[in-house]
Amino acid sequence: MPTLPDATCPIAPCFTSAPYLRRLKICAPAGRHADVGTDACLQTHPAKVHKLMNEPGAPTDRPPETLVIGKLALDRWRPDDLEVLFSAVSGTLEHLRPWMSWAADHDRESIKRFLAESNEGWVRGERFEYAIRDLQGHVIGSAGLLDRIGPGRLEIGYWVDGAHTRRGVATQAAAALTKAALALIWVTDVEIHHDEANLASRAVAHRLGFRLIGTYPRKPTAPAETEYEVRWGINMDEFATSPASQLLKDVRAT
Ligand SMILES: CC(C)(COP(=O)(O)OP(=O)(O)OC[C@H]1O[C@@H](n2cnc3c(N)ncnc32)[C@H](O)[C@@H]1OP(=O)(O)O)[C@@H](O)C(=O)NCCC(=O)NCCS
Repeated sequence: MPTLPDATCPIAPCFTSAPYLRRLKICAPAGRHADVGTDACLQTHPAKVHKLMNEPGAPTDRPPETLVIGKLALDRWRPDDLEVLFSAVSGTLEHLRPWMSWAADHDRESIKRFLAESNEGWVRGERFEYAIRDLQGHVIGSAGLLDRIGPGRLEIGYWVDGAHTRRGVATQAAAALTKAALALIWVTDVEIHHDEANLASRAVAHRLGFRLIGTYPRKPTAPAETEYEVRWGINMDEFATSPASQLLKDVRAT
């Protein structure tokens, strides 16, 4: 394992302490050790570092494997969920096809690949994919956090079964994932990206209080997509007073 530099962090003097760096090394996801050092100090939030120094074990490098929000539970996908996920996707394929490029190649093999890659991504600390389950434990969607938009940032992705849309499922799942993501030591920002024409996805980001970052050209990959992607973001400070945070409080209170 590479040695961590005992460098001076420019954010605050207390960050320079060796205990912080040692504990950050422990918290850093496997394979990230080489990146951890002054850069990691810069990417994290002062409040997290204080918590890290004062409360052993928190914050962590990976989100919980189960998140409960109101009447929903987000459960980490595992390789042995093959049949349940295959059946959930098969049952709502026409609803997914316009927006999800992978729906065009849906079969058991592609689901198996998704579950295997998700599992590896979780172990590496780069991808956290969850089943969205209702009170009875039925899978009604899927949502995840993806480390593919740059250091310190995670992107949320989701789909919900066509028979369960417009009941706030994606909004609640995304709120729970946002909170879990921002609690990670190495995450400062969470983003939602969607096609410009995907109004339902846009509504989710808007309702949660994400800030509009901008609209960017890109190549469409699914039948209903345009040539533009809209990006929304939220950071720790924004989250504290956001509708997403309020939603989580309201759901807990009911
Ligand atoms: C996008 C998606 C995940 C939203 O899931 P959901 O559980 O229905 O989302 P919510 O109920 O939390 O919120 C959806 C909101 O979108 C808005 N909405 C939904 N369909 C809409 C439409 N056709 N036009 C305008 N607004 C729409 C509404 O405001 C709706 O909430 P409301 O009816 O309560 O006002 C779901 O439609 C889906 O799975 N779509 C296909 C896959 C996909 O597009 N994934 C996202 C890729 S970025």
